[in-house]
Amino acid sequence: MAKAKIVVVGAGLMGLSTAVCISDSITNCSVSVMADRFSPNTTSDVAAGMLIPHLYPGTTIHQQKQWFRETFDHLLSICNSSEASEAGIHLVSGWQIFKAVPEEKTPFWSDVVLGFRSMTEKELKKFPQHKYGQAFTTLKCDCPPYLIWLEKRLKENGGQVHVKKIEDLWELHRDFDIVVNCSGIGSQKLTGDLEIYPIRGQVLKVHAPWIKHFIRDGDGLTYIYPGIYNVTLGGAREKDNWNLSPDPIISKNILDRCSALEPSLWTAENIKVRVGLRPSRSAVRLQKEVLIHKNEKLPVVHNYGHGGGGFSVHHGTAKEATRLVKEVYNVVIHVKWFRSPCRHVGRYTQLMEFWSLCLAAVRMVHVVFPRLMSGNWLMESNHVEDCQCETTLDKTSASWQNERKR
Ligand SMILES: Cc1cc2nc3c(=O)[nH]c(=O)nc-3n(C[C@H](O)[C@H](O)[C@H](O)COP(=O)(O)OP(=O)(O)OC[C@H]3O[C@@H](n4cnc5c(N)ncnc54)[C@H](O)[C@@H]3O)c2cc1C
Ligand SMILES: *[C@@H]1O[C@H](CO)[C@@H](O)[C@H](O)[C@H]1NC(C)=O
Ligand SMILES: *[C@@H]1O[C@H](CO)[C@@H](O)[C@H](O)[C@H]1NC(C)=O
Ligand SMILES: *[C@@H]1O[C@H](CO)[C@@H](O)[C@H](O)[C@H]1NC(C)=O
Ligand SMILES: *[C@@H]1O[C@H](CO)[C@@H](O)[C@H](O)[C@H]1NC(C)=O
Ligand SMILES: *[C@@H]1O[C@H](CO)[C@@H](O)[C@H](O)[C@H]1NC(C)=O
Repeated sequence: MAKAKIVVVGAGLMGLSTAVCISDSITNCSVSVMADRFSPNTTSDVAAGMLIPHLYPGTTIHQQKQWFRETFDHLLSICNSSEASEAGIHLVSGWQIFKAVPEEKTPFWSDVVLGFRSMTEKELKKFPQHKYGQAFTTLKCDCPPYLIWLEKRLKENGGQVHVKKIEDLWELHRDFDIVVNCSGIGSQKLTGDLEIYPIRGQVLKVHAPWIKHFIRDGDGLTYIYPGIYNVTLGGAREKDNWNLSPDPIISKNILDRCSALEPSLWTAENIKVRVGLRPSRSAVRLQKEVLIHKNEKLPVVHNYGHGGGGFSVHHGTAKEATRLVKEVYNVVIHVKWFRSPCRHVGRYTQLMEFWSLCLAAVRMVHVVFPRLMSGNWLMESNHVEDCQCETTLDKTSASWQNERKR
């Protein structure tokens, strides 16, 4: 049986989690990951990895909640297993605090995290500038460990990993049947997708092992997120800034703001600055597309544009991308079978071919010949060719959302 060859572009959180999800649920396919940057050099390595959703204005709340729930429940079960420490996943409790009481006191995700409640008067006494707060327990994925663990799982499933910068998609056309595009902010240059833009973030990773509770200002600007080894202090949000060098003024500002909420941080040690570009978009691009180049087709499934909340939804979107890959896969495997050399071996197939020839001859006499005589043959032959494309790719053309000519 022919095997479909799938390549995932990107080795950040999206690329690796999608590759693992595909190799877990589609048998008889080979999965490769190709990227120019791997852990610890991806945007995903800069992130704190907290599971607190960010809003995507272009996606329904219902959908966002489903992605969050799927991700939370999936990670909670890893957290509840002997793999937890290697995977870098842990539970963390803390507070989200507000200077003014928010309009919506119960966010859509409040029943997905654990033990969501309003903070008590006594808890709020720690933060005299803040009027209201929410206490809950959520999960955190520490990178690099989580990315390294995903890569290991992919390899256990037979997947392969290659370091390569992709300049043009057609490089992949010769060796692969399906491309999955998880290139994060790299998509802008590659895709010409003008909807994606960077929101520059800067964080400090510090040694402060006494910090066990998270604190997040509801404005999203200041946060303290304790991980297994380091505490991540943030943050900064600068739209359309591509600069990856650390800004010392922002670093000082982050330390001031965080220490105002948690004075013990003044004595934090081993402060490292990291900068990352959030791949932002009004909605995550989860879509099938067929690229066409000189009559050849290459199916692509996109999964990028997770902005500032990728960790919170990654497993949900990886599952959705896998579902799209499965739809494409069923068509690809069908086409491959018909093209497979095995088909030309054996008496049975020879007989089939003989029959096809006969049918073609009959068709020639009945359809093409009369047209030829009436001078109408060119139109008809074009039509026949279109039909053949439709029959081999019938399931696709109906459901593939858009076809782009190159
Ligand atoms: C400071 C900061 C803090 C954050 N904190 C959180 C948080 O607490 N919780 C949360 O949910 N989210 C957080 N995020 C958001 C999260 O980091 C992102 O949503 C997520 O990492 C995006 O993952 P990705 O795999 O799409 O991108 P990336 O991690 O950037 O991976 C992209 C991959 O594509 C590859 N690639 C790109 N172009 C090419 C090419 N042409 N050829 C080959 N390979 C290519 C790259 O090499 C890389 O491997 C934070 C982000 C930042 C910047
Ligand atoms: C997978 O391949 C094996 C042998 O190569 C074949 O027996 C099996 O039917 C295939 N399974 C699917 C789901 O195609
Ligand atoms: C990460 O980047 C550094 C500096 O460019 C490089 O030396 C290192 O090999 C990279 N690591 C990986 C795993 O690609
Ligand atoms: C946690 O693990 C225990 C023991 O393996 C199991 O019985 C329980 O269902 C698990 N709970 C969750 C939420 O995964
Ligand atoms: C990502 O998708 C775009 C189409 O929107 C395409 O042009 C680009 O080549 C893709 N990149 C990769 C690496 O697959
Ligand atoms: C976090 O802590 C680990 C273990 O102490 C260390 O190896 C790593 O370099 C730290 N990460 C950062 C970004 O400082």
